Order: sequence, then C-alpha cells, then structure tokens
Amino acid sequence: DFLLLLQKTLVGLFSAAAAAILISKLRGKRLNLPPGPFALPLVGSWLQIGNNLDHHDFTNYAKKFGQLFLLRMGQRNIAVISSTELAKEVLLTRGKEFGSRSRNIVFDIFTGKGQDMVFAEYGDHWRKMRRIVSVPFFTNRVVQQYRREWEAEVAKVVEEVRRNPAAAEEGVVLRRRLELMVYNNVYKMMFDKRFESEEDPLFVKLKSVNGERSKLGQSLEYNFGDFVPILRPFLRGYLKTCREVMRRRLNLYKDSFIHQKKSVVATRNGMVEKNIDLKCGIDHFLEAQKNGEINEDNVLFIVENMNVAAIETTVWALEWAIAELINNPKIQAKLRTEIDTILGPKNQVTEPDTHKLPYLEAVIKETLRLRMIVPCLVPHMNLHQANLGGYDIPAECRIYVNAWWLANNPAHWERPEEFRPERFLEEESNVQVNGNNIKYIPFGVGRRNCPGMLIAMPVLGITLGSLVQNFELLPPPGQSKIDMTENNGQFATRMLNHATIVLKPRYV
Ligand code: HEM
Repeated sequence: DFLLLLQKTLVGLFSAAAAAILISKLRGKRLNLPPGPFALPLVGSWLQIGNNLDHHDFTNYAKKFGQLFLLRMGQRNIAVISSTELAKEVLLTRGKEFGSRSRNIVFDIFTGKGQDMVFAEYGDHWRKMRRIVSVPFFTNRVVQQYRREWEAEVAKVVEEVRRNPAAAEEGVVLRRRLELMVYNNVYKMMFDKRFESEEDPLFVKLKSVNGERSKLGQSLEYNFGDFVPILRPFLRGYLKTCREVMRRRLNLYKDSFIHQKKSVVATRNGMVEKNIDLKCGIDHFLEAQKNGEINEDNVLFIVENMNVAAIETTVWALEWAIAELINNPKIQAKLRTEIDTILGPKNQVTEPDTHKLPYLEAVIKETLRLRMIVPCLVPHMNLHQANLGGYDIPAECRIYVNAWWLANNPAHWERPEEFRPERFLEEESNVQVNGNNIKYIPFGVGRRNCPGMLIAMPVLGITLGSLVQNFELLPPPGQSKIDMTENNGQFATRMLNHATIVLKPRYV
C-alpha cells in the first residue's frame, strides 16, 4: 500500500509537470468532450477516482455530470450513458458505430486480443463467430431439443437435496449444487457431456480454472495498470498469473474435451453418421474449422466464452433470485400458490409450463431488474471518433450503458428500490426481457445483445419454479435474512457471500 501511495504521489508530481504541454496539445485538437471530473495528463482522473468503479459510482457521477459524462482514466476514455434516449442511440439506431468491444489488459490476455466472440471487434470475424455459435445454442429449436435435459438436471438437484437431512436442518450452500447443474446444462449442449457429482475430478479441475479466471478478470484492483501504462510494471506478476491461468485453462478444454470429441467425430464419420440432430456445439465448431471458416484458436475461444457467458451469469442470477425469495417470504408463498394452482400439486415444472406461470416470470424479471447481473452491459466501443449528444467521443472510447440505473431510476419506475414482482404484472406489464423498452435491458439490446437470453430464461424458470414447488426456502437457523451484500467487479454484480440456506421438503 505504501508503495502504491508513493507511486501515486510521484506520478501526480510528474503529471503536473507534464500538464502544460499536454493540455495545450489536447486543446489543439479542439474536441468538445463530454463533461466529467478534472483530469490530469497521463493519469487523467485516476488519482481522485482510483480503481474501484461500479454502477453505483457511475450513477452518482451522472447526478453530478449528466446523462453522458466522460472519465479520462490515463490512456482510457470511459463514456457513461445514463439516459434512455442516448442508450437507444448507442445500442440501436447507431448500434454499428458503437458495436465494438473495449477490452482491458487482462481481457486482452483471456481473449487472445478479441479472437473470441464476446470481446471481438464489430465486423466480419464477430459476425461469423456469432452465426457459428448460434446454430447449436441460440434458437428455439435448440431450447426444445434440450429442455428435457434441463428439467432432468433440476429433478436431480431436488432429489439430492430432499435426501440430504442437513438441507432441512442446518442448511446447505445450495449454490454449489446449482453450479454443477448449470455446468451440466451447458456441457451437454457443447460436448454432450455431464458430470456425475461435485466431486468428479474433471469437474473439480474445470471449476477451479474457471474460478481463477473469473477472479482475475473481475477484480477491479488491476485497473491502475490498465489506465496508466507507465504503472504497468507493477502489474507484471498479476499479468503473468493471468497468462498462466489462461494457458492451463485452454489446455484443459483442448485435452479433456475437444480432442476427445474429435476422435468421437472421426469414428462417427467412419460409420457415416446421418442424424444431424445428434450434433452438439463442438461438432458445429469443428466443422466450421474444417471448412476453413475459423481456426483452432477460435474454436478454443468459443469454448472459453461459453464457460463464462453461459455458466457464471446463470448461477449468479439463481443465487440472487433465491436470496430475494427467502428475504421476501410472502412473494415466495405467492409464487408457490401460483405453481400449485396452475399445475396442480406435484406436477413438476417443465419449460412449456413456465409460459403459463406469469408470477414466476415476474419474479425472474424483478430479480434481473434490481440485481442486474451485468449492470453496465459488456462495454461497447466506437472504433472511430463520433458525435453523441452534442459532444465528441474520441475514437476507441469505452462506452458503459448504465442499464442498472435505467432500470432503477425513480423517474421511470415506481419505488424502484423495492423487490416487487407485481410491477411486471401491473404498471410495467408491457415490459419484456428482450429490450422492447430500453429502460429495462438486463440482456442488452441490439446487435451485441445477449443471445443466451433464450436459454437463460427457461433455465431460470424451470429451476426456480421447481425449487419453490418442492421446498420451503428459508434462512439458516438463527438468521432472519440472507446477506445481500454486493461484490461488484469489472462486469458483474455478484453476492459477496454464498448463502447457506434451509430447504424444507414439502413432499416426502
Ligand atoms: C452478452 C447478460 C446468460 C451468452 C451479454 C450481455 C449482457 C448479458 C448484458 C452484453 C450485452 C451488450 O453488450 O449489449 C446475461 C445475463 C444472463 C446471460 C443477465 C443470465 C441471467 C447467457 C447465456 C449465454 C450467454 C446462458 C449462452 C448460452 C452471451 C454472449 C454474449 C453475451 C455470447 C456476447 C454477445 C456479443 O458480444 O455479440 N449477456 N447473459 N449469456 N451473452 Fe449473456
């Protein structure tokens, strides 16, 4: 800490000295930049603002500087959008112009500088990747093909919890089991593979490398080295760890999943496989590689993306939703009554059932509103200098749309701080998760929106529906509420503490 302070002071002094020259240089460009906090050359506003920036900080700055403000953080320009009008412009009407992604130094490592899909620049590569991934993942046909597997995975969770006496007494950290379930949902689609238990050695390894990557990527602590290149030497160790984790992770995907699959495909081809319905994700990706559309690294990075985008997000959403249901017992009871009434007791919730359960859908929507998992979307970027809201946006500016604030701004919502699913059946009954109203975009909207919405919604519905149907969800003994403290990272809002929860079976 002392080193960092010393370093900040030296940089501050150095910057002040360099200020005159650089300010005059900037003035020379005559850009009409959006308002924002005072910025020094070289370090920008980093000395005042520091490393920790989240959607709440952005909301406070918006109150001070307006709906479009600019943070100049060393080499990075960060524009933050806090109005529905400007969000619409950036994501929809001018979605192409603002449709690239800004990566930080750590994500440069994890994505091989955008060889993946999620962090790829807007253009041919991204379009191709999105098309290739869509066939085995993002269609209604795929949902119908896999929904029985997802239902079976939840049924297994219910069965195991019911058999575990601790669940009904001192409680369990249900998140761990749900994580296995979501891995199984996604690995089934990607590799036609499932893991038997949380102790499965391959699952343990996988969870460990993905967890390390998540921690390294989400941390806000490395921001200084991303913002201020001359401080990057202080991050050498961190970046080295990132590269090592990335190597171990990609090797695990390659050795334990992709290569095995390749040999299966080879055998199958030998027997002239005709039933294309049996193809899973990796078959499609390898075929695209064989056709020369993408290379081997691209295949690896698709697998990389899915391990994060598809799995972590869904697990976090489940964790928040369950905590809200426990902390709002009346809402939980109302949901249970809806399920019992509409499906009849003990008829297990299926994907088609979720469309008949409006309160269940409202609970999920309300969770994604109040606890927006990706509160400022995945950062967008303009490749070229642009004009927005009357201001100049420098080329390659990182653009955050504060979607959390759009969904929690009292100007647009009644008592937004309350967890009240009813709003989506009453005054907001026209608001869907697909972004039909820009004030509510938990999955983004436009060209770079979340294609996984199609999978996430049914999985959340089946899982939460089944849990509430089969158990009373309660806080652990001696505790009246689940701790909802947030842990905000580069992209996501997670729960700081994985809750222990009690699940009392309703049926024996
Ligand atoms: C992108 C949210 C689940 C795959 C995104 C974005 C958001 C988001 C906000 C960025 C949108 C933008 O930048 O404009 C969520 C939430 C989820 C979820 C809240 C669960 C509750 C999933 C699942 C998958 C997935 C299950 C895959 C099966 C992706 C991909 C992208 C993405 C591939 C990048 C799209 C692109 O850059 O073109 N997600 N997501 N997500 N999501 Fe999701």
